[in-house]
Amino acid sequence: MAKIAWKGGALLAPVPPVMVTCGDMESSNIITVAWTGLINTHPPRLSIAIRPSRHSYAIIKERGEFAVNLTPASLVKECDYCGIYTGAKMDKFEKTGLHRAPATAVACPIIEECPLALECKVLDIIPQGTHDLFLAEVVAVDVDESILDGQGRLCLDRAGLAAFAHGEYFALGEKLGKFGCSVDKKGKGSTPQRRAAPPKTAVQKASMPKPPAPKPAQAQATEFKPHGGKKSASSEGKNPRGKHAGKAGKK
Ligand SMILES: Cc1cc2nc3c(=O)[nH]c(=O)nc-3n(C[C@H](O)[C@H](O)[C@H](O)COP(=O)(O)O)c2cc1C
Repeated sequence: MAKIAWKGGALLAPVPPVMVTCGDMESSNIITVAWTGLINTHPPRLSIAIRPSRHSYAIIKERGEFAVNLTPASLVKECDYCGIYTGAKMDKFEKTGLHRAPATAVACPIIEECPLALECKVLDIIPQGTHDLFLAEVVAVDVDESILDGQGRLCLDRAGLAAFAHGEYFALGEKLGKFGCSVDKKGKGSTPQRRAAPPKTAVQKASMPKPPAPKPAQAQATEFKPHGGKKSASSEGKNPRGKHAGKAGKK
């Protein structure tokens, strides 16, 4: 495919449009944040990027804590509202009809209607330019019972989460596979056929390097299953998944 080079821009997508709660049970606010991401597994850490001009900025900075509430597709309007109006002059819980629920490890409320909330304590605030990055540790996770199976395992697909891409909201769609599906020998966890790639141009064909022949010992474990199609989002593109094929989901 021919590419056009643009200057650098914040165009990562999809990202989760989360509702971040702050304050305490008596006086709290909700700010919608899309510039968020996990940054470490142990200890569990994430970041949110907030402009200093937001009403929530000072609250989070002063209190040193907040909660990240995952947004289901059914709450996209509420989420959008919390990202348009400032809580400086209104109670967004009252306006949206969302309910406060007590958190376990932080003073700020979580949102009752959200299926999962990450309670966070701020570790550092790092200015970036337009936004400041709040680096935080996830000290507790609140999971709605409705997204647990009979054995207490998390079934996040039941949460019906929303995604945000280039200014538009989407509902997560078709499940394409499981972590490790590219190397799953039994073909489990992978579903659809890979979409046909567009025909390659003569230039692309000529410039494509031949993949190196796999070493016999690794060949089976790292074999790519084309019907699995996609690389796991959490694979970080490095490969050695073959080694972990039996530990799907552990990173
Ligand atoms: C989908 C969406 C994503 C947003 N992401 C961010 C973000 O990552 N960081 C930020 O500072 N503001 C973000 N905003 C804007 C704030 O949510 C918005 O300015 C909000 O009104 C601030 O609320 P507050 O003044 O009550 O804190 C986003 C808004 C929307 C609708």
